[in-house]
Amino acid sequence: MEKIVILTGAGISAESGLGTFRDEGGLWSQHRIEDVATPEGFARNPELVQGFYNARRKGAARAAANPAHRALARLQAEFPGEVVLVTQNVDGLHEAGGARDVLHMHGVLAGALCAACGHRWTAPEEMRVGEPCPACAAPGGRPDVVWFGEMPYHMEEILGHLEAADLFAAIGTSGQVYPAAGFVREALAAGAHTVELNLEPSAVVSDFAETRFGPASETVPAWVEELLAEAG
Ligand code: APR
Repeated sequence: MEKIVILTGAGISAESGLGTFRDEGGLWSQHRIEDVATPEGFARNPELVQGFYNARRKGAARAAANPAHRALARLQAEFPGEVVLVTQNVDGLHEAGGARDVLHMHGVLAGALCAACGHRWTAPEEMRVGEPCPACAAPGGRPDVVWFGEMPYHMEEILGHLEAADLFAAIGTSGQVYPAAGFVREALAAGAHTVELNLEPSAVVSDFAETRFGPASETVPAWVEELLAEAG
């Protein structure tokens, strides 16, 4: 039975009102990555980093899933084969759109992590500096997101899925951050058909056998409709 592996990036949440990183006016034009998305930045200025994620957590909590998120949930529910959803996004919009078992390789805004003991808990909307860990009381609570220089989550599981993929799709990602940008190569090595659904060509567009350009809220529902029709 067919196995579909899907990777999403910030572009799938753009039409839900959440900023992307590298588009015009994106998050990385407003903040320096080294200040807000590295362990060193957190150590240097935890107020700035907690503030950055508090603002994004608030924005994500108020955003709604869009037709692209809902279409992927429909594919998971109705496709006769297996549909594995991997996201680089830390918002919860795939789940809000009805998706299940989403693999958040860069963590989640809704999660808090204790830097001292590794305990995880649901983050308050506003995390304070020195947020005490509910398990060990150390004042090291941080957002449970993967910063630059840290290992993404679920990598072994994701690579296992890619090795068995019949179809790999990348949706709303610029293909500039590894290891995610290299997933298409793993899928190609597995003999999978590969498709990129994006507003514009990504940095790895040449690795894809098929491309569909346009806003995700239009391209993804159409693509899912076709897959379900083909599956009969
Ligand atoms: N529909 C489809 N694609 C869109 C839309 C849209 N409405 N709007 C923007 N895009 C595309 C852009 O063309 C771009 O290629 O989404 C992509 C967003 O790219 P980035 O901003 O680089 O986001 P992403 O690829 O998810 O970044 C990967 O980088 O900074 C890290 O951890 C962060 O997870 C993030 C990772």
